[in-house]
Parts: sequence; C-alpha cells; structure tokens
Amino acid sequence: MNQEVAKFSRLGFVLSATGAAVGLGNIWKFPYITGVYGGGAFVMVYLVTILLIGASLLIAEMVIGKRGQKDCVSSFEELAPPRRKGWKYAGFLFVTGLVIMTFYSVVIGWIFYYIYLSFAGLPTTIEDAKEVFDNLYGHAPFLQISFHLISVLFVAVVLLGGIKKGIEKTNLILIPFLLFILLGLLAYATGFDGFGKALAFMFAPDFSKLNSEAIIRAVGHSFFTLSIGIGSIMTYAAALPKHSNLYKAGLMVAFMDTLIALIAGLVIFSFLFEFGGTPDKGPGLVFVSLPVIFAKLGTAGSVIALVFFLAMAVAGLTSAISLVEPTVMYLEDRLGWLRKKAVFWSSLLYFVIGVLVILSISDGFKAPLTFGEKSLFDLLEFSVDSFLMPLGGILIALFVGYVMKREIVEGELLGHMGKWVFRIWYFSIRYIAPVAVLFLAYTALNVE
Ligand code: PFF
Repeated sequence: MNQEVAKFSRLGFVLSATGAAVGLGNIWKFPYITGVYGGGAFVMVYLVTILLIGASLLIAEMVIGKRGQKDCVSSFEELAPPRRKGWKYAGFLFVTGLVIMTFYSVVIGWIFYYIYLSFAGLPTTIEDAKEVFDNLYGHAPFLQISFHLISVLFVAVVLLGGIKKGIEKTNLILIPFLLFILLGLLAYATGFDGFGKALAFMFAPDFSKLNSEAIIRAVGHSFFTLSIGIGSIMTYAAALPKHSNLYKAGLMVAFMDTLIALIAGLVIFSFLFEFGGTPDKGPGLVFVSLPVIFAKLGTAGSVIALVFFLAMAVAGLTSAISLVEPTVMYLEDRLGWLRKKAVFWSSLLYFVIGVLVILSISDGFKAPLTFGEKSLFDLLEFSVDSFLMPLGGILIALFVGYVMKREIVEGELLGHMGKWVFRIWYFSIRYIAPVAVLFLAYTALNVE
C-alpha cells in the first residue's frame, strides 16, 4: 500500500508542477516550431489555445488528482460513480509518460553532450555544427546510450527520494536556478539590435503564414508543453494539502510555462537575428545554429553556451521526473511494490526501449527499427503527439465534465473561482475541450 503520506508545501507543488510543465517543449521545441511556422501568428494561436483549453484542462487534471489522492487508476476509480467504475482504466493514461521518456531522455542526453562541448570546444561554422550534430545523431549510438543512461540515473535517484525529499527538494532548487539563468540571458539579449527583431518576429502576427498544419502544431504543442493528459499533474496534485487553491495553482503553472517559453524564444531569436542565423531551421535550431553563434563570442560564448545548455538540461530533467512518477506511484499504490523496486523496473523499461530508439536513428541498426517511413523514434513521438496525449486530454475532460459529480468539482473550485468563472471553465471542459481535442487528433492524423 501507499507509504507516501508526505504532502507538498504550496510553493513546492507550484514549483514542481512548473518543473513538470517547463521542459524541452519550452526551450527546444517551442522556439523551433515557432521559427518553422513563421512567428507571430503561430504564437497567437498557441497563446489562445493555452488560455481557452490548456489552462482549463490543467485545472481539471488537478481536480482528479487532488480529490482522488492516489495513483491515477485509483483516483479515477474512487471518483467514478458506483456503476461506472470501468473509468478506472482511463487511469492507465500514465503509461504515456514512459513512452515519452523513451525519446525524451535521449534528447536530454544530447544536451549533456552539448554541455560537454561548451568546455571541449564548440563548432565554429554551420557546416561543422551540422556535422557534429549528425555524427551524434546518426553515428554515435554508444555515446548517446551513455548520456541517456546518465539521465535515467539522475531521474531514478530523485524518484527514490519520494515526493518530499526527492521531487519537491529538486524542484525547489532547480526551478529558481532555471529562471535565474533565463532572465540573465534575456537581460543580456536585450542589449542586441536583434532583440527588437525577435520581438517583432514573435509578436507581430502575419496571418498569411498560418496554415492548418501550423494551427494543429500550435494546439498540439500547447498540450505537450502543459503536460496535459498523461497523469503527471494528476499524480503531483494527489500530494496536495487539503485546502489548496487549484484555480490559482493551475493559472500560475500555465503562466510560468508560457512565460518561460516566450523568454526562451526571445533569447534564441535575439541571438539568431543579431548574428545572422535564420529562424526556420527546425529541430537543429538549438543544436546547430546556436552553438556556432556562441562560438563566435569567444570565452563569453562558451560560458553562455554552458549556462544555456544547463538550463535546458534542468528543464528537461524536472519534466522527466514527472513523466516517470505516475508509473512509480501506480506500482507502489496498486501493486504494493516498494518504491525502490518500482523505480528500478520502470527506469529499466524505458532505458531499454530508449536504447532501441537510439539504434533506430543510427546507421547500421536502422533497418529492423524502421516502420514504413518512420523510425521507432518518429513513430513513438508521433503516437504521443497525435494519439496518446489527445486521448488522455479527452478522457480527463469527459470524466470531469460528465462522470464526476458536479458537486465534487464545485466543492474544489467554486469558492476560489466564483460563480461566473466556474461556469465558463465548466463549459470549456464539457464542450470546448473535447471538441477541440477530437478535431486536433483527427486533423493531425490526416496531416502527417
Ligand atoms: N511539458 C514537458 C515539456 O514541455 O517538455 C513535457 C511533458 C512533461 C509532457 C510531462 C507531458 C508530461 F506529463
């Protein structure tokens, strides 16, 4: 049974949930997809989605966790009315966390490699930079596996400490550190001419650049970035003290997550525009374009590269912790495993699949790990983005909107939200969110 009686402090929860939300999605993915899809108009769609759907779903997920007080499966079971206990199976949405970790941890590994390069010497031309990245990506499976292993071990050690001594403590230290670095980089970037250009690029919308694919990407990303639909936030909320204000906490997390994505975007685009890079380079943006720019700045550049990649690693690791905790909590709560055993087996599982993911992009091993056009890496990422996370999102919306008793939901939120905000939020959960998610999943499947 659950040995975990420890509860978060209020600050501990907000910082840990922020740690879950703020991740590679903010610092790596948001800037590069903003670059690819043309800037301002894309950012607008992203912001509107976060406001209209993302924040509502985040709060809904918190409600289930806080009321259920247990692992995801038990929370759904506990809150479903007597004849609808089959809803407990929705709790298995936490499996998505491990699926994400099979490639998320690999990307964290790449960041470790770039931290090492900040000391060892960054590539100085775009051609070099491409070669360095391609060599890592396609030709160095053992190096990647070693870095992937470091990330797995870090996450495992934090998880062994449990909610208080592991997760809360780590986030209390690392999230302020992350903010400090990003604000420092932002302050530095405001001195560039490129800063004005970055502002214009991100905030002056040019709607002619907006196509349906861009809209899907923006909506899909707003789910990913807020960590919605896989039980991470639910599991953290299960360890909240009784009188916590979920409305405030949810808004705060959505706000911090958005703020950090915008700051990361501004910093990266300022450097790019200042030193003559282009914003539409895709996933290689931070691994190819930025290192060359940093290299141009000499010693200062190495320091900037170091703190930048450290910030990225911190963002990734604090999210990674939240991706695995729901599985650990399930194994502990439902199967009665000791935390040690639960951490060991879940880590081993995603480590091994992560190795296959690495091999699926490595020369010489690709063939048996490619399915149709897609490598295992692409396939897993695709199934998360266009199927597993939307599915989790819709289950949460339907459960809170239609299955849970309205009085329970009201009991948790009405006092903090007031009548009108509650009504709007409930409307969004019952009608807007499910339709939007269905639309997203349907169109995503047709676009890719
Ligand atoms: N929100 C994280 C990011 O933006 O990188 C990724 C993530 C973490 C997704 C936790 C889902 C999750 F449950």
